[in-house]
Amino acid sequence: MQMIIIFIFKLIVIVAVFHPSKILGELTSIVDGNAVEAIRNKLTFVDQRLAVVYPLIQTFKKSITSDPQNITGSWVGSDICNYKGFYCDNPPDNKTATALASIDFNGFHLKAPTLDGFLDLLPDLALFHANSNFFSGTISPNIAKLPYLYEIDLSNNLFTGTFPIAILGMRTLSFLDIRFNSFTGSIPPQLFTKQDLDILFLNNNDFIQQLAEILPVDQKQERKLAEILGTSHLFYLTLANNKFFGPIPRSIATYFSSVSEVLLLNNMLSGCLPYELGFLTETVVFDVGNNLLTGPLPFSLGCMKKAEVINFAGNLLYGGVPEVLCAMDNLANLSLSDNYLTSVGPVCRGLIKKGVLDVRNNCIMGQPDQRSVVECSVFFSKPRYCSYRPTYRYLPCWVPHFSGSPPSPMAPSEPAPAPV
Ligand SMILES: *[C@@H]1O[C@H](CO)[C@@H](O)[C@H](O)[C@H]1NC(C)=O
Ligand SMILES: *[C@@H]1O[C@H](CO)[C@@H](O)[C@H](O)[C@H]1NC(C)=O
Ligand SMILES: *[C@@H]1O[C@H](CO)[C@@H](O)[C@H](O)[C@H]1NC(C)=O
Repeated sequence: MQMIIIFIFKLIVIVAVFHPSKILGELTSIVDGNAVEAIRNKLTFVDQRLAVVYPLIQTFKKSITSDPQNITGSWVGSDICNYKGFYCDNPPDNKTATALASIDFNGFHLKAPTLDGFLDLLPDLALFHANSNFFSGTISPNIAKLPYLYEIDLSNNLFTGTFPIAILGMRTLSFLDIRFNSFTGSIPPQLFTKQDLDILFLNNNDFIQQLAEILPVDQKQERKLAEILGTSHLFYLTLANNKFFGPIPRSIATYFSSVSEVLLLNNMLSGCLPYELGFLTETVVFDVGNNLLTGPLPFSLGCMKKAEVINFAGNLLYGGVPEVLCAMDNLANLSLSDNYLTSVGPVCRGLIKKGVLDVRNNCIMGQPDQRSVVECSVFFSKPRYCSYRPTYRYLPCWVPHFSGSPPSPMAPSEPAPAPV
């Protein structure tokens, strides 16, 4: 009984201290203060919509603790459209009105503990760019209520907390850049099926999650998913420099079907490579450098028809480099250094000569700058195994000289090891 009373007492204290209306009350009184100030200073605004945002800007200005370029020096008076970093336009709902339509604080190096009570309350905002500042805190779920906001760039700031999940509810959002912050936790898989989202930069955060969780493999759903993704626009997506782990799921080809740059470098991905990578036919840059990926390189990689840059450097890959991979037409940079690969054929050797293929620090006899015999034998002394073994030699596309004639899904045998 006593325990319960103490518990209830604690609960009351917590509610009293953290009651949101108290915080909100304080916030509104500051905002009201700025509104009163505006009236006292007899400010007249060209549009009522600017009068509404004036107190919000002034409150935000007071919260800025560092402004090395004296940006906020210009944030005085009623001419908001000429404040540094603020831009006005006619809002979509009234072509004769003037409203605060976009904010560009890129590179201003402003420091503020939060954007809450500012960004999330600017009703006519369409663009918010704040690259390279020192803004921190979390992102308010209220940004989802802004009807016109379609571009958010918060990159290179000090934001923390989990992924701002509220943005899933934004129907207008097409560009989200939150790279180079300290977001943690996981990414909602629904992001990938979000209709209007074109560009998503998530790299250089502390997201930690199994990649398979973001790209769930449900074969029954895969067809349906392909249909949804077929109508989605996502073409740029970066997940690099986080803590994504686990194998690359076979569903990658479905999710990334329209993505031109697949950037998964510097994570903790492990396991063998799925044959389905060969279905990434729109991919121009494929970078999974510096992970813990292992197993052989699937022949199917030779079907990534648009690939110009492929990076597998710094993994635990072994076996031969498929000649069909080296025979790709558009390849300008194939990085396979710092693995445990054991052979290259004549086509690949041609690419090494041209400086396109880098195989340094592998276990390839006859190539310069390889790992020591001891290092290689230590690696190969452990048993290594990949499932779906036969798929490593399948070619899901027709490649002249490599596919049999007539076109068949089988690839020729692995290239012979390089002569010593
Ligand atoms: C900042 O800019 C304002 C307006 O341009 C100017 O009046 C003020 O003197 C400047 N302050 C500093 C510290 O340079
Ligand atoms: C559009 O904006 C102008 C300027 O603020 C205002 O006078 C007018 O009443 C607005 N029209 C509507 C339909 O709200
Ligand atoms: C090729 O790609 C690797 C890895 O992305 C990079 O380090 C290297 O500088 C590139 N080489 C050339 C010649 O561009």
